[in-house]
Amino acid sequence: MLKDGRKIRSAVLVSGGGTNLQALLDARGGVIQSAEIALVVSNNPKAYALERAKAAGVPALTLSAREMGGREAFEAELQKTLEQNEIQLIVLAGFLTILSPAFTQRWDHRILNIHPALIPAFCGKGCYGLRVHEAALARGVKLTGATVHYVNGIPDGGEILLQKAVEVLPGDSPETLQRRVMEQAEWLLLPQAVELVSQKILSGA
Ligand code: GRF
Repeated sequence: MLKDGRKIRSAVLVSGGGTNLQALLDARGGVIQSAEIALVVSNNPKAYALERAKAAGVPALTLSAREMGGREAFEAELQKTLEQNEIQLIVLAGFLTILSPAFTQRWDHRILNIHPALIPAFCGKGCYGLRVHEAALARGVKLTGATVHYVNGIPDGGEILLQKAVEVLPGDSPETLQRRVMEQAEWLLLPQAVELVSQKILSGA
């Protein structure tokens, strides 16, 4: 936060349960000092993340690419919504739609994503959700983790900001591994990354 109290207005994009959104909401006033969560956008009207936003008093809305007839229309509407809300930073927190290179270019170094593996392992198109942990278990890695990275036109291909390793334990299922990666890495890293990048933007870097 700057001395005059200025904070970066961020929007969190979600599709599902929203535990990473919850970690961000809970970090307000703690780890997160330089950003406010000004808006939550879901592409799924049934996402529980919307309830979390409501409970936290954060404005939330649904924009569905399917209902809008495709990605182009969706991104145009998303851009308009972000501008109307004077958003400066976008955080993808379990957001399952891939954004086009045109959109990510416009928001160069202004979109963050959390991925539940140590990129470049177990990432890229089609590698999301439980599939990431299934792939890690199938390969037999002993360490996995989470990565926060900037988003560019390549799925999970943008500059890496933060990573944290998490142990794979004997007997892990994709579900138990997913939970440990969330608890020990994702929910810590994402608020830290939002603070880091917001400080950077505020300092004009
Ligand atoms: C998380 O594992 C995140 O890394 C991935 O999707 C999952 C979303 O979980 N991109 P949630 O909706 O934040 O609970």
